[in-house]
Amino acid sequence: MLRFLTAGESHGKGLITIIDNFPAGVKIDEEFINEKLRLRQSGYGRGARQKIETDKIEFLSGVRGGLTTGSPISFFIKNKDYENWRDRMDVYKPVPEESKIHTPRPGHADFAGSIKFGLDDIRNVLERSSARETASRVAVGAICQIFLKNFGIEFASAVLNIGGIGIETAEILPDTHAAKKKGSELNSDPFFSETAETDRFSIDIFDPAIRQNIENSELRMPHPELEEKTKDYIDKMKAEGDTVGGLITAQVKGVPVGLGSFTQWDEKLDAHISMSVMSIQAIKSVEIGAGVKSAYLKGSECHDSIYSQSSDKEKRRDSAVCGFYRKTDNAGGIEGGMSNGEIISVICAMKPIPTLMKPYLDTVDLNTCEAKKAFLERSDVCAVPAASIVVESAIAFSICYFFLKKFGGDSFAEIKRNYDGYIKNEQ
Ligand SMILES: Cc1cc2nc3c(=O)[nH]c(=O)nc-3n(C[C@H](O)[C@H](O)[C@H](O)COP(=O)(O)O)c2cc1C
Repeated sequence: MLRFLTAGESHGKGLITIIDNFPAGVKIDEEFINEKLRLRQSGYGRGARQKIETDKIEFLSGVRGGLTTGSPISFFIKNKDYENWRDRMDVYKPVPEESKIHTPRPGHADFAGSIKFGLDDIRNVLERSSARETASRVAVGAICQIFLKNFGIEFASAVLNIGGIGIETAEILPDTHAAKKKGSELNSDPFFSETAETDRFSIDIFDPAIRQNIENSELRMPHPELEEKTKDYIDKMKAEGDTVGGLITAQVKGVPVGLGSFTQWDEKLDAHISMSVMSIQAIKSVEIGAGVKSAYLKGSECHDSIYSQSSDKEKRRDSAVCGFYRKTDNAGGIEGGMSNGEIISVICAMKPIPTLMKPYLDTVDLNTCEAKKAFLERSDVCAVPAASIVVESAIAFSICYFFLKKFGGDSFAEIKRNYDGYIKNEQ
């Protein structure tokens, strides 16, 4: 069973990751991994921290001569910022009382984390709950993507909407902020008077022209015409000491029929993807395919009829020859907990960053119970573009997990034989 563990604090020496049960003989492309790490650090609206760090993977084990060996893969990602925190993060030096934090930031792990672990300094919670950990997850996802690329499985992600600016969501989410802007009060606000024409379900982020737009955009948004307006909105939030979230899509192409299973609740591909994505810091919803919209559709509108390009009954179960296909993909490529051969599509919402640069949020001092304002810690204003890379990576792990479960073997060659046999229907 493919699994991974991460360790490391945001301002500690760095992040350590171990990937277990990854097959032998997979050619590692370090440049690809570092490019994904770079993308996770970029995006308009990030804080000063990203200017300090240049994340690079350093393999410690499990890779030799450019190929995985089948042994546990471990790697290190250095925190350059540690140099500025050496004293405060020292392993043995006692923490001075005056530098301890007792005022939990609403929206963070601070409150429950410090009570749960009986910690008198919230820094012990925030250092680990920080999204710095997502650098590890992006590297794991990139290693999974490198492996899956050999089987024609491709990943893409994009930002659909930042703070309500972007691809229209109003019609399907009637009670949201975005819906209100369609009505009256927000229409006069210049930031909300214009949205993209496309709805979030019809956008093809694998389309080369759209992909180019996403790659060229500092926001990873497919609509260049909304770029400046969205950046202005992020600037406005920054000037106000506030933050903003958004909507992300990630898709996977080339997944064979039958990853995941209907036989047990925890074997379902959609359930696993949801856990992978929902476990990312600040992600608050996960939709597969039409997601929430399904609740508003009739059965006859929602379900994706099945067609075949072949009438050859002998080959009817051989999808490669028979060419089963759908004209719609409301199921988002997953039915009954299994991939159905269509594009797997996920949409998720990221909440606004919970550390605000102005003291808007009320909190209490956990030592004295006095009313306080939430403390300020250097922070991002908007991290939705970065999070889109994390979402893509988290999904890559889930797909890889089930791919190895189905075609499992200890080496790349063995897995390839199993995969080819299944695809050719020779099993
Ligand atoms: C890529 C990324 C960057 C983030 N950057 C920050 C940040 O700079 N400041 C902050 O307060 N929260 C940031 N967050 C969000 C918090 O880590 C997250 O909201 C917090 O750990 C609480 O977890 P929860 O929102 O899942 O409940 C970031 C999240 C992601 C995915």
